[in-house]
Amino acid sequence: MGSAETHIQSSRPRPNDTSDDLRRFSTLDEMEAVASTRLSEMAHAYFVGGAGDECTLGRNRSAWAEIDVWHKVLVDVSNRSTACTLFGRPCKMPILAAPTALHKLAHADGECATAQGCAAAGVPMVISSLASTSIEAIAAAAPCPLLMQVYLGQDRALGRDLIARAEAAGIVGFQLTVDTPVWGLRHRELASGFHIPPGMDVVNLRGTGGGAAASGVGISQVLGWTISPSVTWKDLEWACGLTSLPVFAKGICRADDAQRAIDAGARGVIVSNHGGRQLDGAPATARALPGVVRAVAGRVPVFVDGGVRRGIDVLRALALGATAVQVGRPVLWGLSCGGAAGVSRCFEILRDELDRAMALAGCPDVASVRGDLLRQD
Ligand code: FNR
Ligand code: LAC
Repeated sequence: MGSAETHIQSSRPRPNDTSDDLRRFSTLDEMEAVASTRLSEMAHAYFVGGAGDECTLGRNRSAWAEIDVWHKVLVDVSNRSTACTLFGRPCKMPILAAPTALHKLAHADGECATAQGCAAAGVPMVISSLASTSIEAIAAAAPCPLLMQVYLGQDRALGRDLIARAEAAGIVGFQLTVDTPVWGLRHRELASGFHIPPGMDVVNLRGTGGGAAASGVGISQVLGWTISPSVTWKDLEWACGLTSLPVFAKGICRADDAQRAIDAGARGVIVSNHGGRQLDGAPATARALPGVVRAVAGRVPVFVDGGVRRGIDVLRALALGATAVQVGRPVLWGLSCGGAAGVSRCFEILRDELDRAMALAGCPDVASVRGDLLRQD
């Protein structure tokens, strides 16, 4: 057994970890290794997998690592802050929990625990429309800023209802996912026989499948009720017109699509390839981000997600012009390892790494992380 593995083994917390146990994790990869032993094979396959040969999944991560950061020296960084404002709310760092489905697969307390972990960490959470807990219960569980992710399908009433319900529950914005005309082909998920276990449900869509609960069915069947290959820019425009809250378009990689999203009324875009789960062959988000930032030209915020696993990746994204990053799978690993405390530990690791990266790069605050840290040659 190699030394890294030995370290993971010896620091492995027991189930029901306390915050002290969780402090032994010093990287998100260590959390992932332990989470993979805690999850059912089926849940792990669903969480970890990407589409096709998982080329995009792999490149999402390696593309961040390839970006050199030309650090500045002899800057006074004795007073540093990772704080920022998102959706008018003060946040401890420019990071959000990306929308991911079915948190009860990771922990019995599901999305409520995630929201509590996000509140403790001072970051917003984006609720998936395939959450296993009701929007209202999540909103009651924790005071973190909440956003709602929405899929648009054939049934416009469903989209309209979700938007109205989320607004009534006090959310601060929406993320309309635009990269899912059909479901990506995820071999790991299929091979695992993934299905929603008995007793679990996509409760916010209840009734969509002709009144049936979703327990026992595959995720693609659930999405059959919620996504549609006929959705176009007109639908984005329609959704933006339903609410006075900001609607961000999630899943943009092209400059021309970013422009069209703004034309349709989006008040932000999220550069995303769905964590490599949709089009295998899509560009790594680190590579897609600069073109979108140029096209948007500061008119709306640009977020990015996919493969962000280190604080230095967050700094790279900010230097490329992102306002904030989202993390998907790491939150699920934290949730699996320790519920709310595990989620908050996941963000604490990222914050500590970001803080250190900012200090070493000569950036005392988020506003000072700019494009001049990149491409000196
Ligand atoms: C997702 N993602 C996702 N996106 C979305 O808009 N609605 C959803 O319900 C889900 N569900 C979901 C489940 C799981 C298990 C994963 C891993 C991902 C995509 C997610 O929001 C985000 O784009 C990626 O996860 C970002 O990549 P990383 O951080 O996981 O590498
Ligand atoms: C996924 C869906 C739920 O990626 O967006 O699994």
